[in-house]
Amino acid sequence: DHFRYRPELLEGMPDDILRCMKQFEDWFTIDADQLKKITNHFVQELEKGLTVEGGSIPMIVSWIMGYPTGHERGRILTIDMGGTNLRVCDVCLAKGKGDFEQAQRKFKLPAEVKSGTAEQLWDFVADRLDAFINEHYSKDQIKGPLPLAFTFSFPVDQKSIRSGILKRWTKNFDVSGVEGHDVVPQLDAALQRKQVPARVVALINDTTGTLIASHYKDKHVKIGSIFSTGCNAAYMEECSAIPKLRGLDLPQDATVIINTEYGAFDNERHFLPRTPFDEQIDAKSIQPGAQIYEKMVAGLYIGEMLRLIMVTLHEQERFFEGQDTTRLRTANTLEAPFLSIAELDISEYLDDMRAEFKETLSLDPSLEELKACRYLIGLIATRAARLYACGVAAICKKKNLRRCHVGVDGSVFNKYSGFKSRAAQALREIMDWPPYELDLIALNAAEDGSGVGAALAAALAMNGKNIPDG
Ligand code: GLC
Repeated sequence: DHFRYRPELLEGMPDDILRCMKQFEDWFTIDADQLKKITNHFVQELEKGLTVEGGSIPMIVSWIMGYPTGHERGRILTIDMGGTNLRVCDVCLAKGKGDFEQAQRKFKLPAEVKSGTAEQLWDFVADRLDAFINEHYSKDQIKGPLPLAFTFSFPVDQKSIRSGILKRWTKNFDVSGVEGHDVVPQLDAALQRKQVPARVVALINDTTGTLIASHYKDKHVKIGSIFSTGCNAAYMEECSAIPKLRGLDLPQDATVIINTEYGAFDNERHFLPRTPFDEQIDAKSIQPGAQIYEKMVAGLYIGEMLRLIMVTLHEQERFFEGQDTTRLRTANTLEAPFLSIAELDISEYLDDMRAEFKETLSLDPSLEELKACRYLIGLIATRAARLYACGVAAICKKKNLRRCHVGVDGSVFNKYSGFKSRAAQALREIMDWPPYELDLIALNAAEDGSGVGAALAAALAMNGKNIPDG
């Protein structure tokens, strides 16, 4: 298995490079003991987030009080906004059999939209939704406003399933006029202004949708998680275990899905073993001091981590000497696939990796430099996967889940080879499973959360009423 760190990459390297790699190894290696300590602290922080006083992890009550039964039916539009794309879907929940049909379309979210004004953002969404409706619905299929489920993957304060006040943008989104406001009336107003025949009936997080859709297919799924641009998870909690819900008139056995927003774990910066590069990434981000855990693990940041390290190697260790490093010095030039391609390259001369360096960075490194970078990529990605495992393990410990499936979605989880096995290995270490035991907590590819999951959430929210037939 070539996804482990590959010490053989360092064979025969000059002493100064070895010394330097050793320093990175010390910074980025997190052993089993540390993983366990981080996880135990993580459990406490999850608990704290459920209290009235709260903590750094928001533990958002989604108001989805149970799983769908499989009898939901009807036709529902869904939109998903939360990372690189805006995805629109047409979902048919069919005749109680638990199956569905759907059409979908993706639109890239332009950088201007991610950092413009609220009106520009919602107009963009409304226009794309309108185009989609025109493509997929005939006039006589539209008898009134079509129900719309909105997957909005940011921390919001929810007073009901149909509302969400944005606490703060994450993932380097920076749209003015949305923080502190309820996003549902903002989107509905744009739909009205543009005469788009749709109204929001449910607002959910991508992790919540992932949990619902995955549990719908496999009852052993107890956690829905995203590992992509950002990193987060949702699970079902007993309302009696949520102090901040006390005083509400709820049935004794009521349950509710909690969107943990645990990317905010350790915003106090007390527990995670941070490196100077983590400090730099945070300091230069649009939201410094926020999403500290997420910034150490998620896809949006691991490319930047590698870039910062390579800049240091250039300045201090004379890597890429005499070459034009303009692109290397440009923030956010590297994305997760760059790392993944390098790690997949097991050829003697690292040809694929070399081609990526040329194409993305206009650099032509020596074989030694490539090997050193390949080694560092292994360290960065392994740390990300191991820290990712702490969040999942913390929910399992908190809920005393000894065996379960976790539905995981997101581009990094699905496309970064080796990520899953590294995270699974870390889980084994944290949970102390005997070596011969199969994985009792399995990280599985999730079902479609922001399509089917969101539609099911909408059906639950509408309680079977006013949903047009498919
Ligand atoms: C960020 C968002 C969160 C989302 C996650 C994955 O952490 O704050 O809402 O679930 O990214 O997309």
